[in-house]
Amino acid sequence: MLAWTVDHTSPSHLSLGEMPDPAPGPHDAVIQVQAFAPNHGDLEGLPSLPDGTIPGWDAAGVVVAEAADGTGPRLGQVVASLGPDGAWAQRRLVTAESVGVAPAGADPNAMSVVPVAATSALRGLRRLGPVLGRRVLVVGGTSVVGLFAVQLAARAGAEVVATTRNPAARERLVELGAHEVVASPSDLDDDVSGVLDLLGGSHLVRAFARLAPGGTLVALGHVAGEEERFTYGDLFGDSGRHDRSLTTFFLGAEANIGPDMTWLATRIHEGRLDPVVGAVRPWRELPDAFAAGTERTYGKTVLTID
Ligand SMILES: NC(=O)c1ccc[n+]([C@@H]2O[C@H](COP(=O)([O-])OP(=O)(O)OC[C@H]3O[C@@H](n4cnc5c(N)ncnc54)[C@H](OP(=O)(O)O)[C@@H]3O)[C@@H](O)[C@H]2O)c1
Repeated sequence: MLAWTVDHTSPSHLSLGEMPDPAPGPHDAVIQVQAFAPNHGDLEGLPSLPDGTIPGWDAAGVVVAEAADGTGPRLGQVVASLGPDGAWAQRRLVTAESVGVAPAGADPNAMSVVPVAATSALRGLRRLGPVLGRRVLVVGGTSVVGLFAVQLAARAGAEVVATTRNPAARERLVELGAHEVVASPSDLDDDVSGVLDLLGGSHLVRAFARLAPGGTLVALGHVAGEEERFTYGDLFGDSGRHDRSLTTFFLGAEANIGPDMTWLATRIHEGRLDPVVGAVRPWRELPDAFAAGTERTYGKTVLTID
């Protein structure tokens, strides 16, 4: 099969070439990959992976061989799959625990964004508890995870506030379900019950200051690349600031995500959740799609396999 592999002699750390097909164990099904969607972590991790590794966490495709132990998806099903590597190739191994099963006829491009981006947004929001009738702040609303979080929180009955530095993105965020769009957590009129933070740094510190008593901030992302500096008093728990908590999140530590991926894939297929695909390119253009200076659109860049 053809696959992208890590090649540190190349400026992109990648080269496309022939590799042996993956050898399934008894618990592995095999999918023919039709689309994959690289994540921040995939791209940042390339320089530290050994030569010859097939990278990639997220892939969507069709099952071409079922697992010998009878578990997992059935032949011909379209699945969204998550794994530690192996996605950027024509074929990939998947297990029952690592797939969401999409409805027949689902668009693989849309399904490829489910594993990391959509599932992280869903699991991160769950940490906030019930959000019906509560104000929820998504810091970094235009990040891919943020675009899903805005939609999911709104559908769960929250009054959603999203941040973006870009005034032109306001309309898109409102279309996805945001009730209010601000440049920074400091611009909020009222405090919020929960925060999903994709940016970290000073954004996280300012968002924590806007948490109502009993509220939770989930630190999910760190796009800003800044340190978090709390100053004396920021963590006081006096009247009006008591019982606020901050928790970290890692999708890789989340158990039993298959049913949630299936739920997300189904909602996307039904048109009830926007897959926020920003660009679709042939997979042979993978290094160009993420090269420095490449113009980015909001949403996920998806690579399709011929
Ligand atoms: N913990 C986990 O398990 C987990 C899982 C998934 C993702 N993540 C993390 O979640 C984060 C979001 O991932 P993503 O793929 O959704 O991100 P993304 O789409 O690349 O987010 C980009 C957005 O962040 C904003 N941004 C970029 N640089 C910024 C800066 N210096 N200061 C402030 N805002 C900035 C921009 O919004 P505006 O231009 O609109 O302001 C931009 O649209 C990443 O850190 C990722 O690694 C973690």
